[in-house]
Amino acid sequence: MTETVGIDRMGFYTPDMYLEMTDLALARGEDPAKYHVGIGQDKQAVIPPTQDVVTMAANAAAQILTPADKAAIKMVLFGTESGVDNSKATAVYLAHLLDLPADTRAVEIKQACYGATAGLQLAADYVRARPTAKVLVIGADIARYGLHTAGEVTQGGGAVAMLVTAQPRMLALEPVSAYHTADVMDFWRPLGRTEALVDGRYSTNVYLDFFKTVWAAYQAQTQRTIADFAALTFHIPFTKMGLKALRQVLPEATPDQQAHLQAAFEASQLDNRNVGNLYTGSLYLSILSLLRHGHLQAGDRIGCYSYGSGAEGEFYSAIVQPTFRQGFDDERLTALLANRRAVSVAEYEALFTQRLDLSGRDVQLPVGEVSAQYYLAGRQQQQRLYRQRIVD
Ligand code: CAA
Repeated sequence: MTETVGIDRMGFYTPDMYLEMTDLALARGEDPAKYHVGIGQDKQAVIPPTQDVVTMAANAAAQILTPADKAAIKMVLFGTESGVDNSKATAVYLAHLLDLPADTRAVEIKQACYGATAGLQLAADYVRARPTAKVLVIGADIARYGLHTAGEVTQGGGAVAMLVTAQPRMLALEPVSAYHTADVMDFWRPLGRTEALVDGRYSTNVYLDFFKTVWAAYQAQTQRTIADFAALTFHIPFTKMGLKALRQVLPEATPDQQAHLQAAFEASQLDNRNVGNLYTGSLYLSILSLLRHGHLQAGDRIGCYSYGSGAEGEFYSAIVQPTFRQGFDDERLTALLANRRAVSVAEYEALFTQRLDLSGRDVQLPVGEVSAQYYLAGRQQQQRLYRQRIVD
């Protein structure tokens, strides 16, 4: 019998600060409706210098791992395009911070916003071959375009941690998927740059074209139609992007199905609308948002479109498990988002420039008011100083 393999648990972390998009719009001389409606974002996570992708991933993973899980983890696959070193993998720092056993394989995967999907599929294949093993998959990023750029409204950041196992509590991954690669210069970050370069409108067109391609390829492989899906989820760099993709295929559905898919999309974008872009974690925050806020039932099939500029697209599907609500801590996630503090545009701009720079000089960061369990205390002799607070 083929094992059911998929996502057993999901954790999410984003720092305790955000910027209101109305404030940003007014500061940039834009109509707030452009940001809230035209782009579809209400709040944007602001990342303090004491958080990077390693600490955010540790804060997300610590929420879901029991001592028994840690003992069974055989691999850590860390999807990110905000790596902290050109050689050493973020996954190695993470495995150490989480105190994972030494017989763990730990690597970083980079392909823009697609890295976590590559990790998830590799993890699923690994567990299908070794059903007692567990794999920790991370999607963590800090989306940075720069102050006063067109992309500024689509920034954000955070980490999603997923435990991939046999007999998963949340989502069983179907072993079929369709993917597509082409060498495209829509968004990239040359070595030595801390902000991405992007051809914004072109990138949105490539995203939509890739969706069309992989959706058609998936349908050809499976003979399934849109009627087979209770929800379609998307990589959400900004929520309007996902809506545009959904609108591309809605005409294939009956009016009733269209209403269901639209309602599911609303649920799937709620948390992303208040956090902003997570790059490689965005699709997974959206799936979590759907599971938290949507009306899904056991056996429902959800479609997942992953897109990473440069470019790679993939469409795959997953089946909702009867125990899916046991796989995440809904109250904790609600509190995490509700208890953030709003920062002014001036404070956001100051924080934007305070992250560790590329000079390599020693830095001691102000950690007095840090509330996160894992944080970055600074840099000494070219080494990041990761710290852990003891929490109850
Ligand atoms: N009220 C309501 N809506 C308004 C409005 C108003 N007053 N003013 C403008 N709008 C609407 C526009 O009509 C437009 O809507 P449509 O796209 O539906 O036509 C929308 O607001 C955006 O307006 P513009 O196109 O004029 O916005 P812009 O030129 O300032 O830039 C952007 C938009 C290209 C997305 C830019 O924010 C950007 O470059 N973002 C980063 C790139 C990105 O996210 N690309 C996504 C695909 S690539 C990817 O997915 C990988 C990744 O994560 C980066």
